Amino acid sequence: MVNYQTLLSKVLKKTKPRQADEKKLNNLSKKALEITREIVKKYQGKAILAGSITRGTWLPNKREFDIFILFPEDLPENKLEEHGLLIGKQVIKQLKGKSFVEYAQHPYVSGVVDGVDIDIVPCYEVESAEKIKSAVDRTPFHVRYIEKNLSLELSDDVRLLKQFLTSNKIYGADAKTQGFSGYVCELLVIRYGGFLEVIKAASKWVPGSIIDLENYYKKEDHHKLRKIFKNQPLILIDPTDRNRNTASALSIESFLRFVKLSKGFLDRPNVKYFSEKKLPSITGRELKQKRLQRKTELLFIKFSPPKVVPDILWPQLRRFAERLQSILEETKYEFKVMRKDVYSNEKDLVVVLLEMEIPKLPPIQKRVGPTVFAVKDSSRFLEKYKKPLTGPFVEESNWVVEINRKFVSSHEKLVDSLKKSNEILKSKGIPNYIADQLSKGFEIFSDDRKILKLVKRDKNFGVFLKKYFEKESLV
Ligand code: UTP
Ligand code: MN
Ligand code: MN
Repeated sequence: MVNYQTLLSKVLKKTKPRQADEKKLNNLSKKALEITREIVKKYQGKAILAGSITRGTWLPNKREFDIFILFPEDLPENKLEEHGLLIGKQVIKQLKGKSFVEYAQHPYVSGVVDGVDIDIVPCYEVESAEKIKSAVDRTPFHVRYIEKNLSLELSDDVRLLKQFLTSNKIYGADAKTQGFSGYVCELLVIRYGGFLEVIKAASKWVPGSIIDLENYYKKEDHHKLRKIFKNQPLILIDPTDRNRNTASALSIESFLRFVKLSKGFLDRPNVKYFSEKKLPSITGRELKQKRLQRKTELLFIKFSPPKVVPDILWPQLRRFAERLQSILEETKYEFKVMRKDVYSNEKDLVVVLLEMEIPKLPPIQKRVGPTVFAVKDSSRFLEKYKKPLTGPFVEESNWVVEINRKFVSSHEKLVDSLKKSNEILKSKGIPNYIADQLSKGFEIFSDDRKILKLVKRDKNFGVFLKKYFEKESLV
């Protein structure tokens, strides 16, 4: 019998903030709240603390807290934004910090005071979580639910869970991570009663698992939920809004990784599950070896990221890669993508990698038409290929022609498709910000020398490549 408790209390020494730090954050949050409350009086607003500060579930290396400003529902949206920013900036100024504007559904102020991050988010005060105007309006309901249902003794368990997820890069519901949010962690700990209990339960999860803390739905209706929340691997019904899956941002991959990690931890408990692994970058030798092994062609499309927040950047990048694949795989071109992935450092580099299974084709292309018995279709086909290279001739009962292929390499086809104005790119289904960026320039390359130069410039790109080739097992 493994002694989990000894191990976990050892881990907790690192995941629990020092008393002095805890005091500092609590005091600062109280002070910030008081200042905010004073200022919002003039605006008929209310201010509350939200998120991990309210139950002491924050991690020592993320010293941050959240203040929500609740405005009456009849305040026009532009006023909510305007007042929200004004108040936020004023609060940070009074605390002698530096403030920035961040963007979620609405812009909000984020400040740094004495090494602590403070988010000041405006929202509407609505009657119930089902009547929200935007997603942030839910937060005050979440705060109340967590305060009522998460006992303070369980704070450390939430911290353990957050640390476990953070170390394995699946903490956070943002578009890049597609993992578990802080609120989801808190709900899981409430539901199962502790960190270890969450891990034990998760080790048995299958895609489509349903957690319904308030028993809003009967067991026999669960299949309906799986239809409503199609393709969402974990359905965690929001206790404050029965129509919402709180874990909707969780990707299938993150879900499966968590299940696998949970099984692994139970089998062989180890502190390493709670510390971030530093992955090495790919070496020139490894790249060469992969080339010889796979004999595919690698197409790298490189450009600068558009100036948008990560939550917009990542979905657009993924959609862009999808679109590139569908362009290359259009039936008339006959190229084939084996696998693809996207990389960005979110600063000055975006790389889309397309690994081509069919990167090149002969200059001659065979076109098989309708059967000769389909007279109307046949004449349409023959009309379309009036002067083929060979034919029209017949195979079995179908018309066949051989023509000159328009693009013999996928590289060539990509250049042709992407060297267009942003308007044309958008009309071809390239996501907006990516289209604007591409029209300012991009580079496509395949050779090892350029790849390794880029690895040298950005080590994380090298890590990305290594992970791409050595794709981890999800079972
Ligand atoms: P946080 O992301 O700060 O999470 O959002 P947290 O629960 O405090 O956990 P950690 O410890 O900081 O990681 C706090 C609250 O603000 C809402 C979230 O839904 C959450 O309830 N929020 C935050 C938004 O609605 N939108 C945002 O852009 C950011
Ligand atoms: Mn927070
Ligand atoms: Mn926050």
